[in-house]
Amino acid sequence: MSAGELMLNSGQGAGSVNPEKPSRSRLGLIVTGVVGGSLVALYAVATPFVAPALRKVCLPFVPATTAQVENVLKVLRARSGTLVDIGSGDGRIVIAAAKRGFQASGFELNPWLVWYSRYNAWREGVHRSTSFHISDLWKANFAQYSNVVIFGVPQMMDQLELKLANELSDTAKVVACRFPFPTWIPERTEGEGIDTVWVYDTSMFKSNLHHGSTETHKQKTQINKTSSS
Ligand SMILES: C[S@@+](CC[C@H](N)C(=O)[O-])C[C@H]1O[C@@H](n2cnc3c(N)ncnc32)[C@H](O)[C@@H]1O
Repeated sequence: MSAGELMLNSGQGAGSVNPEKPSRSRLGLIVTGVVGGSLVALYAVATPFVAPALRKVCLPFVPATTAQVENVLKVLRARSGTLVDIGSGDGRIVIAAAKRGFQASGFELNPWLVWYSRYNAWREGVHRSTSFHISDLWKANFAQYSNVVIFGVPQMMDQLELKLANELSDTAKVVACRFPFPTWIPERTEGEGIDTVWVYDTSMFKSNLHHGSTETHKQKTQINKTSSS
């Protein structure tokens, strides 16, 4: 018997199937699939958490402390109606507010946090009085809310001041957590350290806005008069 015939008979020739080989390559495929799938899943989960750090204003997910949430509810004790938490994170402020009778909403960029918030609201039995929106706070309009809560960062507060002053009704209250607004004067402060919250009355900062715009108008008129004379 020739060497070729020997190989064919023993099943090791070209085109023959080695029972060891397919299972190894299948194992390789499974490992590649599992590792690749895990990396894709990790990327999909981690990206929304990392992305805020790459934006012009970095507003990362830092959940409110229990004392902070209590302070928010304390300063809004006499209030009712609609409430919005701008950048609602895991929904803890929205859910706590809904338990106190508010019709509460959250606007949040991170879809995972929004889905988690919806699940928590359902688990806590307040899904009917809460709503969570996957939305960029700078593209949303908060005109319909009579109570506004924000746990932001100092770099965004001046821009947010202008946005809220333009959008909110005269009867709305705004609560800032941990970082106050730069020019508004709070009507009340509650808590201390990182748990501090500041309450602002919209009529106060709206009158400032009108006064400011009147001033600007006066200044512009003055400039026009000077340049035309
Ligand atoms: C400091 S955390 C506050 C979370 C929550 N309000 C609380 O007190 O527990 C800020 C949240 O804003 C979200 N955020 C960042 N940029 C945003 C944007 N442009 N629009 C909406 N939400 C944003 C972040 O994902 C984060 O969950």
